[in-house]
Amino acid sequence: MRLDDRTDRAGSPFESSMDPVGGDAGRMGHAGAAMYLPLDTLKPLADDIWIVDSGPLLGSLPVRMTVIRLPGGDVLLHSPTRIGAGLRDEIDGLGPVRFLVAPNVAHWMFLPEWQRAYPRAEIWAAPGLRRRRQVRRAGVRVDHDLYEKLPAAWAGALDTVLVPGGLGFSEVAFFHRPSRTLVLTDLVLNLEPARLPALLRPLARLAGMTAPHGRAPVYLRAVVKLAGSRAAEAAARVVAFRPERVIFAHGRILDQDATEALRRSLAWLLPQG
Ligand SMILES: [Fe+2]
Repeated sequence: MRLDDRTDRAGSPFESSMDPVGGDAGRMGHAGAAMYLPLDTLKPLADDIWIVDSGPLLGSLPVRMTVIRLPGGDVLLHSPTRIGAGLRDEIDGLGPVRFLVAPNVAHWMFLPEWQRAYPRAEIWAAPGLRRRRQVRRAGVRVDHDLYEKLPAAWAGALDTVLVPGGLGFSEVAFFHRPSRTLVLTDLVLNLEPARLPALLRPLARLAGMTAPHGRAPVYLRAVVKLAGSRAAEAAARVVAFRPERVIFAHGRILDQDATEALRRSLAWLLPQG
């Protein structure tokens, strides 16, 4: 069963308002939980790497974009969050925005507004995204699937690993070689209970999404495991990058003993033995 087949009847796991990893339902909700302030502004994380914290999604979920400046000076936006004039000005100060990346099939909702702002930027999306009914309906233009031949401008700076799943899910992990930074999206969540509404804390803990060793929510783990050894081998390749820090869309970044922390957070997927 494909993702859109499910959507026709009852909504896909990536689009329900109960989606614990945000994504498509991201415009919902209201400010009220402790986010990673300040929001919607560039924060330097390493050489040529910035993050933009935003949200909340679904009323309480923080979400994050990663901004990468490539060796030639072009700028790549990974999992774009909401656009704003101030943020645009900041990003324009880094260099020309040439690449917009939807790194998994659930993180695309803010692409249209960035496409309008940067009509000449290339849109690279996780395999399967372009087929989704909601994506087509929203008028998202996908120029390339990740895992086609990747742009020459990324060579030497970015490595990618496709982590497949079932039900049409896929996520592409990015590794920025110069800074040894791994950029994931939903494959690791690391929510800090103190930042969540009290009523949600037990649920987040139960779903395995909480710091210090947060994991993807239980349903997403089940979806990814449908891809069996292909997903496990992809996870092993991701850990083998031995990153010094790991960024992802929701929760506290891994920046202490990052490779070991990543190994713990992906233990559910890594090959056994
Ligand atoms: Fe998400």
